Amino acid sequence: MRGTLGSLLASAAVARAANGANSTTAITADGSNFTLTGDGVSYLFHVDPSSLDLVSDHFGGPATDFTPPANIYAGGWSDGLTNTRREFPDVGRSDYRLPAIHIKHADGDTVSAFTYQSYDITAGKPALPGLPATYGSDSDVSTLTVRMYDNYSDIEAVLSYSIFPKYNAVARSFRISNNGTSNISIERAASFSVDLPNLDLNMIELQGDWAHEMNRVIRPVQYGETGFRSTEGYSSHIHNPFMALISPTTTESSGEAWGFNLVYSGSFATTTERFSHGYIRVLLGLNPLHASIPVAPGDTFQAPEVVAVYSSEGLGGMSRSYHDLYRNHLSRSNHTFQTRPVLLNSWEGLGFDINQTSLDALAQQTADLGIKLFVNDDGWFGKTPYARINDTAGLGDWIPNPDHFPNGLGPYVASVDSFTVANTSEKLQFGIWMEPEMVNPNSTLYTEHPDWVMYQGKHPRTLTRNQLVLNVGMTEVQDFIIQAVSNVINSANIRYIKWDNNRGIHEMPSPAADYEYMLGLYRVIDNLTTTYPDILFEGCASGGGRFDAGLLHYWPQHWTSDNTDAADRLTIQMGTTIMYPPSAMACHVSAIPNGVTMRNISIEYRATVALMCGSFGFELKPVDLSAEERAAIPGILANWELINPIVISGSFYRLALPDDTNWPAAQLVSQDETTAVVFAFQQQATVKPAAPPLRMAALNATAMYRSNAFNGTYSGATLMNAGLNLPWQVEDYQSMLIYLYKQ
Ligand code: GLA
Repeated sequence: MRGTLGSLLASAAVARAANGANSTTAITADGSNFTLTGDGVSYLFHVDPSSLDLVSDHFGGPATDFTPPANIYAGGWSDGLTNTRREFPDVGRSDYRLPAIHIKHADGDTVSAFTYQSYDITAGKPALPGLPATYGSDSDVSTLTVRMYDNYSDIEAVLSYSIFPKYNAVARSFRISNNGTSNISIERAASFSVDLPNLDLNMIELQGDWAHEMNRVIRPVQYGETGFRSTEGYSSHIHNPFMALISPTTTESSGEAWGFNLVYSGSFATTTERFSHGYIRVLLGLNPLHASIPVAPGDTFQAPEVVAVYSSEGLGGMSRSYHDLYRNHLSRSNHTFQTRPVLLNSWEGLGFDINQTSLDALAQQTADLGIKLFVNDDGWFGKTPYARINDTAGLGDWIPNPDHFPNGLGPYVASVDSFTVANTSEKLQFGIWMEPEMVNPNSTLYTEHPDWVMYQGKHPRTLTRNQLVLNVGMTEVQDFIIQAVSNVINSANIRYIKWDNNRGIHEMPSPAADYEYMLGLYRVIDNLTTTYPDILFEGCASGGGRFDAGLLHYWPQHWTSDNTDAADRLTIQMGTTIMYPPSAMACHVSAIPNGVTMRNISIEYRATVALMCGSFGFELKPVDLSAEERAAIPGILANWELINPIVISGSFYRLALPDDTNWPAAQLVSQDETTAVVFAFQQQATVKPAAPPLRMAALNATAMYRSNAFNGTYSGATLMNAGLNLPWQVEDYQSMLIYLYKQ
């Protein structure tokens, strides 16, 4: 359907979402008013008839009518567009707030004047060229595109709004086309921008560092700017490209929450700006410090997309919308809805102390424990003088170290594959670690191609962990990585790849190099995941440094943190689930005392924390397990068999957070709602007070449930309202796994 200015107020163009009996009108438009409606969300904006600017009307719970805007005193210092709520703010025409689009023209000026031209509505959602994005069939999603034009500079902006009605989600992005005759440069591009009314809101973000990712931080949206950004070149440990805005009274289970998540793995910036009238501008997109993206005449720039979710059922409701949307309409991996094999990774057990003999022994112990996948982490590649025997050499030389694997990977992997997994008839599977975007200066690759790294001519190439970043924006580098990873995959029976990335980007040839890198990286990963759809890829970036929706488009899981201390991990994992599904988290039981915190926590607690993740495993030397720990392993694996299918496709509820209570808990409900599993914890031993009863969520109030935690049956209503008093002992770090089976 198409509408132009000439057809203002013509008959309504309507796309219907055909997602069953509850389907609602997804998009209505008449060239003046635009409405996107989901099962529990409305997004409204209109064209201002005099300025031809797009004006935000509403983003929140269902609303079907356009009502007059707030009456702002028009005189005084701020007038004109500053006093309106804008959808696509540019620079000039009296708006003093931060723009969503900031273009530098060839003559140096930065003024734009985008005015409304026309719209289109299509069923489904077109792919974003070169970028990861949500997708869906005609019955899952409808897309509204709005064409804006700057007549002064001959630049077109096409805004894209896609609504997934079932998930109360709106995905937004835009494309800029330079129809003029001179070069322009994109200085700022916020893929999502909306002006909310004068509301008191709090901002939640996930802040952290290495081994300390995804800590939930909350602060009021202040007058002026409130926000954060990554300039690391990647989405980063420091801040995740996500923010939620919530009402002051919102909780996990009630109240309004708006989530905004950038589907991108590079530097980003997110900002709210509250102006004197109290309106709150929300901006999320590229970090302007890593923009200045040139667009030549005839060329286009495509901004990555932001997925915004509205929930009136608290943060938990918002999280579950993201989890379901991302599993069904972001991830395109074959593995997303498959249970993941329990694994043992060599890193924390052996570090760089590896050779075929030590690895064979570890693999044998892995199989003997009943674990199904053995992962050979760092240290297997490079050749003297660049052998990877520590972290000073070898990255870039993706050939097995002949000193350690004299016959190459094939025979070594065949020997791993020959071990039978205890108590099964299955053979052990093999996975391997790579860090394909990196190079050590001590490598053959760097010696041959010193110009393939990210650097700025006259500046030193500064190192982190003795390594440099390859410039993945270069086609030669992309082709090299595709070939290197393919060679490894083709050389042996490899079932899993851990794709690591262990430093940020420092000196770049130009600020745009980060965006170009990301386009290159997505080309590489798109190629490899398409060519090898059965390989289980796991992202990693010194832990959760690149746990983002961009990579989750291609890979089903990500290593959550290098911190495997179960106490810290609970906070990190609860934070990660604010928008990423638990099925995407990789979590391992490691040895005690923990390598990062030196804490000693029982194997039951360590396992209960790790079991709430899609990819569960161990990262220790089985020979070092105590008799008590060893005896616990069969029970842990039996729980994993029961729980993993529920993690993969079930619904997740954060019942109580570790920072709020001594007794945190989380719950999963199976997709068919017949089984729930509760992960309950006591962090510190207490004499007094008593633990509060554990009240479950999302059960059928009138159904009866039996459980491993009590005799007989209780109703869902009892379990949700009265809860269970759990028999905690006066002891630190205890955990319980409670299964509830609907009768
Ligand atoms: C990073 C990863 C670890 C491990 C090491 C190997 O730190 O996060 O899990 O793979 O690299 O060098």
